[in-house]
Amino acid sequence: FKVPEPINEPVLNYAPGSPEREKLQATLKELRGKEVDVPMYIGSDEVRTGNKVPMSPPHDHQHILGYFHEGDKSHVEQAINAALGAKEAWEMLEWEQRAAIFLKAADLLAGPYRAKINAATMLGQSKNAYQAEIDAACEIVDFLRFNVKYMTEIYSQQPPISGNGVWNRLEQRPLEGFIFALTPFNFTAIAGNLPTAPAMMGNTVVWKPAYTQIYSAQVLMEVFREAGVPDGVINLVFVDGPSAGEVVFNHPDFAGIHFTGSTGVFQTIWKTIGTNIHKYKSYPRIVGETGGKDFVIAHKSAHAKQVATGLSRGAFEFQGQKCSAASRAYIPSNIWDDVREFLLEDLKTFKMGGTEDFSNFINAVIDEKAFDKISSYITEAKNSDMAEIIAGGNFDKSKGYFIEPTVILTKDPMFKTMEEEIFGPVLTIYVYNAEHFEEALELVDKTSPYALTGAIFSQDRYAAALATKRLRNAAGNFYINDKPTGAVVGQQPFGGSRASGTNDKAGAMINMLRWVSPRTIKETF
Ligand code: NAD
Ligand code: ALA
Repeated sequence: FKVPEPINEPVLNYAPGSPEREKLQATLKELRGKEVDVPMYIGSDEVRTGNKVPMSPPHDHQHILGYFHEGDKSHVEQAINAALGAKEAWEMLEWEQRAAIFLKAADLLAGPYRAKINAATMLGQSKNAYQAEIDAACEIVDFLRFNVKYMTEIYSQQPPISGNGVWNRLEQRPLEGFIFALTPFNFTAIAGNLPTAPAMMGNTVVWKPAYTQIYSAQVLMEVFREAGVPDGVINLVFVDGPSAGEVVFNHPDFAGIHFTGSTGVFQTIWKTIGTNIHKYKSYPRIVGETGGKDFVIAHKSAHAKQVATGLSRGAFEFQGQKCSAASRAYIPSNIWDDVREFLLEDLKTFKMGGTEDFSNFINAVIDEKAFDKISSYITEAKNSDMAEIIAGGNFDKSKGYFIEPTVILTKDPMFKTMEEEIFGPVLTIYVYNAEHFEEALELVDKTSPYALTGAIFSQDRYAAALATKRLRNAAGNFYINDKPTGAVVGQQPFGGSRASGTNDKAGAMINMLRWVSPRTIKETF
């Protein structure tokens, strides 16, 4: 049995006058004009606690998009019970039936819900139309369709040898218990993938999104329900992280976590799970994609314009609030003047503002906490003798959380902004002696604890090959002559190691394998 071979969902371009642009603009207007009331979804219940928390566009924080109902630990307990209650029926369903539900969800998101999920992402997370299209519409659709393909391949894997009165087979069982999906603010697609990947494999899930992503999470939940995900299979709760964690990680039926977020939070969670390990029926699966300090290194043979474009796109698309965003660069002295000129020229064309004006390329960062953190790094660089701001540097939160794309030039390759994840539109550049490429590679490898994405720009194949080898542990996704962002499901499986995660590649077979526990059956005739 085979499902149709998936192809990547085509990215629409929202050109002026195009029908998709008109539909998206109308949907934005409609959503802005009303206040939504978002309940938690627990089993068959829509739970409204009355503890209403406002949601606003990061680029227009005085506007209210609606409210979500915040819960407490008792709601997490209820969600776990709902997940455990739904487990048997869901697990017993033929996998083809589960596949059909998620393929339908993909079709709904690619078709009738496309404008709504994009508009919700544009308003709730301040992404421009094109960014929302790539993240919200296309990537979540790709995750669903490709994961169904991997699922069919996993179910068809069998031991190669049977015969002579023996039939050996492998049964893929869902994990025993419930899965906790803990999702970040920055990608609607990741928020959609984390609960659905384990659910597809027959597990039931408690999903806790970041509060700043609830506006689009609610649309995903609407789609999952319309596609036929049964009550209790994916339960959506709005409870603060530590409280939710306290209930989940103390529960004997906790079977695994599918996490994307910061390194610090993941390490805290890992320690808690370790401390509680004796409480669980099985060793839980711990799958987490975490922070990054993603690099670009150019060789002296690189084309300056190509490097500059890689930097401006890689660092500043999505306001740099992308785990893969280029945030430290090592440029050889021989091409630096040209790279600088092209980069600064490019940045002048980046218009900043709200997402409803489609000509804006740079939008707001997610919230005040992120704004304050990012701007404090810029202020520190302004006050340092070791750094110079060569582009941007201004920020203003009076209407929205706007931070100009900022380029810091440093004389110190270990400067703070070369080492720490900032998660915003800030790029730090170190210019190295063009004759000392190998030393520069060493710096790239040792400067930061992360290993998510990285790129080498080089016209010299030997240098590119050397970088690929020397930096083999410095990035889970490595790009040659391209920016370190924009991995596409089914093409560049995505994830990092070291402090960047367990590298269980989102939207890949290796990830789907984490959500089953195989049983070997030997039958003798
Ligand atoms: P975050 O770590 O602050 O939050 C992630 C989730 O964990 C949220 O739902 C949050 O409420 C919850 N949480 C926070 N503290 C908790 C605690 N003590 N116990 C239990 N849950 C807790 O991350 P974020 O700010 O939403 O997202 C940005 C981070 O995510 C960045 O570090 C970025 O690099 C990372 N990220 C990584 C990838 C990847 O693939 N490697 C992709 C996207 C984002
Ligand atoms: N998958 C996204 C990228 O590669 C995060 O940029």
